[in-house]
Amino acid sequence: MNETNKEQHQRSAKNTDITYWNELWLNSKIGFNRLSVNKHFKKHILSKIISKDQQQCVLFPLSGKTVDMKAVLDINHQVIGIEYIQLGVEAFFEENNIEHDITNDEHNKYSIYKGINRPVTIYCMDFFTFDQSLPTIDWIWDRGGFVAINISERKQYRDILSRLMTPGHTQLYLLANYYKDSSFSGPPHCVSDDDIIHLFGSTCSIELIEVLNTTAEFNLHYNQKLRFMEEHLHLIIRK
Ligand SMILES: C[S@@+](CC[C@H](N)C(=O)[O-])C[C@H]1O[C@@H](n2cnc3c(N)ncnc32)[C@H](O)[C@@H]1O
Repeated sequence: MNETNKEQHQRSAKNTDITYWNELWLNSKIGFNRLSVNKHFKKHILSKIISKDQQQCVLFPLSGKTVDMKAVLDINHQVIGIEYIQLGVEAFFEENNIEHDITNDEHNKYSIYKGINRPVTIYCMDFFTFDQSLPTIDWIWDRGGFVAINISERKQYRDILSRLMTPGHTQLYLLANYYKDSSFSGPPHCVSDDDIIHLFGSTCSIELIEVLNTTAEFNLHYNQKLRFMEEHLHLIIRK
């Protein structure tokens, strides 16, 4: 995206703060939540961890209640999610019949939901205030996270993710949506390959793993008329 298009997109992009997501969850307008495991996730993460003897830890920033987390639990690996909206966190445990404990931190205004018999922890809190220590994260699956936040928050988001990545080890798979259409301002917000290079390039290696044209599927699912929409899957590893 050139500078002019980028500036226009930034100006017109919808404000996707917590109030916005809260409204969607309250009104059950969660079209982003899919019923089947994401195909990129299956191909690039699930298929690799299934054969690992050592338990792998997969982090899901802005996790929602994605079934991708359940797929990791089903093969006995560990899940850590971060999701602000309590409805979404509770739905994940209830819909998957996972017994859990809840620890509330009234002062800092967050709750930790921890599976009793399953290795899953979901932090119910604002990602931008996330300062917890975590075990070594082997994989990060970012689908609907980076593209969901306000464009002005991207550097802060990157800094928080970077802190959670072990150099040379953690594999961050970031699924970006790329499109050019002045009639649509997201979310998902448009993320170009240059945006990724600009943000992560100085501290991380970046590999563009897949580009997929998803125009028809996107238009059908969200009742839109975009001329084109692509998914760009990036593998990002801290140097
Ligand atoms: C587009 S959805 C994607 C959810 C999930 N990754 C998936 O693939 O289904 C974005 C999610 O991020 C959550 N969210 C948005 N801003 C957040 C923030 N600042 N901290 C934590 N969660 C946030 C929303 O409530 C929503 O569930």
